[in-house]
Amino acid sequence: MTEKTLTDRAGTPAPKKVFVRTFGCQMNEYDSDKMVDILNASHGMTAAASAEEADVILFNTCSVREKAQAKVFSDLGRARELKALKPDLIIGVGGCVASQEGAAIVQRAPYVDVVFGPQTLHRLPALIEARRSTNKPQVDIRFPEIEKFDHLPPARVEGPTAFVSIMEGCSKYCSFCVVPYTRGTEISRPLEDVIAEISELAAEGVREVTLLGQNVNAYLGALDKTEPESEKVDFTTLLELVSEIDGIERIRYTTSHPKEFSQRLIDAYGRLPKLVDHVHLPVQSGSDRILAAMKRGYTAIEYKSIIRRLRKVRPNISLSTDIIIGFPGEAETDFRATMRLVEEIGFDTSFSFIYSARPGTPAADLADDTPKDLKLKRLQELQATIEANATSISKAMVGSIQTILVEGPSRKDPQDLQGRTENNRVVNFAAQAASHPRLIGEMLEVKIVQAYPHSLRGELI
Ligand code: SAH
Ligand code: F3S
Repeated sequence: MTEKTLTDRAGTPAPKKVFVRTFGCQMNEYDSDKMVDILNASHGMTAAASAEEADVILFNTCSVREKAQAKVFSDLGRARELKALKPDLIIGVGGCVASQEGAAIVQRAPYVDVVFGPQTLHRLPALIEARRSTNKPQVDIRFPEIEKFDHLPPARVEGPTAFVSIMEGCSKYCSFCVVPYTRGTEISRPLEDVIAEISELAAEGVREVTLLGQNVNAYLGALDKTEPESEKVDFTTLLELVSEIDGIERIRYTTSHPKEFSQRLIDAYGRLPKLVDHVHLPVQSGSDRILAAMKRGYTAIEYKSIIRRLRKVRPNISLSTDIIIGFPGEAETDFRATMRLVEEIGFDTSFSFIYSARPGTPAADLADDTPKDLKLKRLQELQATIEANATSISKAMVGSIQTILVEGPSRKDPQDLQGRTENNRVVNFAAQAASHPRLIGEMLEVKIVQAYPHSLRGELI
């Protein structure tokens, strides 16, 4: 046999390199890091700085909107050109497009070597080996429960912040959304695994964790993972336990769902100071008619009631959201209802998108007769309002004292340091170069002296 396998490290001078191109959400960002970790553990691979120098190129795809999906195939075309120059190059497609299209990807792009889903990324080393030994493309897009997490190498620490996935999938089936089909239904990681991972991260210097999942407040984790009928704990209990981990100073999470934003969770904001003063809570629309058609499971008043109760406990809490413009049948009155809600709540930074019909979702069958340019006009109006609000919040912070977690050198000027406020704003500040290593990872108080469009300037106190 002359073909060199990846494990055949004798005689392989340089360690192999993997390049991951990530589309979409934070869950995908997280998964992409894990792909590198897992190939590092199995094959000693390291991250490549560019696709050109890689031996393995992976696309971690997103299918939440049509644009992201179309981009994958155009980028794949470019990888094909690289493969023409380097026949040993392995091209893999993972994530939500892979999950939806499966073997159809290999049919459309026969130069693709491996196709894997969000729940089978831990099988990448085996899939690559099988591709090499059989010389046939490999496709594995099943949802093997939560086994993925049992096969991931220990979390890698890069600085004082870290993401920790606590659950996978979504069982809400909003009428416009592909996620339940591509990532499967909600499954929570066992409690002890989550706590062990965060404790380990804290011991290695992590000060802030972001708990990740499509619907973190639907979390129901087994107390005893060896017991199939184990008692389960909810998201609020998880937050309480994470709060008790020494070294963890700040807890963030994304994304939560209004339907499960219980009074118990709201009350936790009164007891747990480590929970940051910021919540990302997707509303999607301010019109009850549209919310019902979206199958979101709440009304605008119910959403506002959550926010009102949260503000009672945390008056300064900053809120961000996701909004879809131009859902089928959205009339001017519906859009106005959304604008009213946005103004009433005073969202900070938010994500807004034009509705994109996703094949296989119930909403894709609805008549969509709002002209495209009208949707675009609405989107621009909405974004201008949200942007103006974010700016006024930043300006109002000037003169205030903020606690920031120092993350590292400033991106703008490496002489400076940068940190983040609780409401997720970057603060750049001057500090003597010699003190940088000591300050990174510290929670410090700074006075905000200037507000820029995407950052703040602070002074150490
Ligand atoms: N709970 C998830 C939501 C995933 S999708 C999370 O963690 O973010 C992210 C956002 O994409 C949704 O909140 C929604 O605003 C938007 N989105 C989903 N499907 C869409 C579609 N078909 N068209 C336009 N935007 C969509
Ligand atoms: Fe999608 Fe709705 Fe779940 S937006 S991820 S189906 S909560």
